[in-house]
Amino acid sequence: MKTALITGSAQRIGAQIAKTLHAHNYNVIIHYRHSSKEAQTLADELNQVRTDSATLVQAELSDTQALQTLANGIKQLDVLVNNASVFYPTPIQSADKNDWSKIINTNLMTPFFLSQFLAATLAKNQGCIINIVDIHAQRPLKNHAIYNISKAGVAMMTQTLAKELAPEIRVCGVAPGSILWPENAAELNTEQKNKMLNKIPLNKQGTPQDIANTVLFLANSPYITGQIINVDGGRTLNQ
Ligand SMILES: NC(=O)c1ccc[n+]([C@@H]2O[C@H](COP(=O)([O-])OP(=O)(O)OC[C@H]3O[C@@H](n4cnc5c(N)ncnc54)[C@H](OP(=O)(O)O)[C@@H]3O)[C@@H](O)[C@H]2O)c1
Repeated sequence: MKTALITGSAQRIGAQIAKTLHAHNYNVIIHYRHSSKEAQTLADELNQVRTDSATLVQAELSDTQALQTLANGIKQLDVLVNNASVFYPTPIQSADKNDWSKIINTNLMTPFFLSQFLAATLAKNQGCIINIVDIHAQRPLKNHAIYNISKAGVAMMTQTLAKELAPEIRVCGVAPGSILWPENAAELNTEQKNKMLNKIPLNKQGTPQDIANTVLFLANSPYITGQIINVDGGRTLNQ
């Protein structure tokens, strides 16, 4: 039985990745920060399918000590999915150091150090790391400078770690286009949503399942490393 750790997997895209890997015989470690209720519900659902197949781990990932503690608790691992992220606008006129550390620490520093801390464990099983990037790692989303920078860093990290950690560990990425509308501080109005949808050749948003299928594909592809697959309905064709 293989094991996958998915960061930020209590809900939304991360939860679908956990469900999909679980449905393909992975045991899953569901990481969450604040969404304890959703994480517990998901773990209960998966454990009903197979006893002891889903465990929970809570951590604030922007804290490197918490990251180290999380990694120390994992003795066996085949797939690490770096999914947790922070997304909200940071207009250049008002963005401050607090925004910088919040977004860069979670989106970029965390996947780097989690990969470093778990490398020896992953290497034992010829494992892989899959980073959830964003199509805006290549072409910037207006008003989101810090997020764009963080994801561009994750894209380079995917390639550089693929080189550093080969041949024991593969490192790949999935770059979603528009999948689920952002919530809270990043919420969009109807006009903004329509504008975005009109730029997608396939004329609709993708689904969390589209992302999860690509994660599964990469996890099962032993001769692919250093690649990032756009899952965006063709959106990058119009960027
Ligand atoms: N949604 C989209 O359409 C879209 C588009 C492009 C790229 N992506 C990428 O796809 C991935 C998933 O997207 P999503 O929209 O499902 O993500 P999301 O809901 O915005 O965030 C996923 C989880 O990340 C966790 N998280 C955030 N900051 C954290 C921190 N400091 N420490 C620990 N956990 C933290 C949160 O866990 P808790 O709830 O437990 O606090 C949250 O539920 C992300 O990497 C995102 O950048 C998404």
